[in-house]
Amino acid sequence: MTEANELEEKLDKAKLPCHIAIIMDGNGRWARKRRLPRVAGHRAGVKSVREIVRACGEIGIKVLTLYAFSVENWKRPRREVDTLMRLLREFLRREIPNLNKNRVRLMAIGRLKELPGKVQETLEKAIKSTEKNDGLILNLAINYGGRSEIVDAVKGLAKDVEKGICKLEEINEEIFEKYLYTSHLPDPDLLIRTSGEHRVSNFLLWQVSYSEIWVTPVYWPDFRRRHLLEALLDYQRRERRFGGI
Ligand code: FPP
Repeated sequence: MTEANELEEKLDKAKLPCHIAIIMDGNGRWARKRRLPRVAGHRAGVKSVREIVRACGEIGIKVLTLYAFSVENWKRPRREVDTLMRLLREFLRREIPNLNKNRVRLMAIGRLKELPGKVQETLEKAIKSTEKNDGLILNLAINYGGRSEIVDAVKGLAKDVEKGICKLEEINEEIFEKYLYTSHLPDPDLLIRTSGEHRVSNFLLWQVSYSEIWVTPVYWPDFRRRHLLEALLDYQRRERRFGGI
């Protein structure tokens, strides 16, 4: 029996997190350790994406949000940004048959209109082609920033107040959430960060208010199904109180 199988047997299927969000960190360090260019780390990271999407679907997770590209990532060298965009497009193009076979529905959050035209096109196609799937929702955060999301939500809400669609006095958390990119999704129950950093890095700032956080020193390109299972087992040992007692 493999290590992953042994871990999976211990899992309580009735206590699974509904939504897992992952900060896929450490691609650059993974590559440096092997004296490879940083982009080799990102390429290797795509393999982990495939394995984890598949694992989440099989285990019965409802939503998986992956931090694929942040609004801050444009500051990286041109070559690296270009490679990340290319890898995203390749993934979206090549994975469609697989996603459909495994009933995975693709969604995306972020300032998507600012992405290169070709990426937008491929993304729209992938979203459209998987929209009827009823399995795992794979939600990619691309050109995403938690603060920009909140600013965008405030602008949307302010517009509706101006138009009289919403009254200022009526605004509460429930209404505000409807203006976030994630209005159609539950908040993450579990936030995983790879490569050992204990930071939220502008990811889903509003939504992670009550998420359980699990950090592993493993670099993203080395992250496998057994690491996901470790995270899930740790999550199941925790008691969530949402501010109560
Ligand atoms: C962080 O590692 C990772 C990223 C900025 C990009 C993540 C992208 C992928 C895994 C590939 C494309 C994604 C999909 C969904 C197909 P880092 O470069 O910051 O690592 P470092 O901190 O070690 O330098």
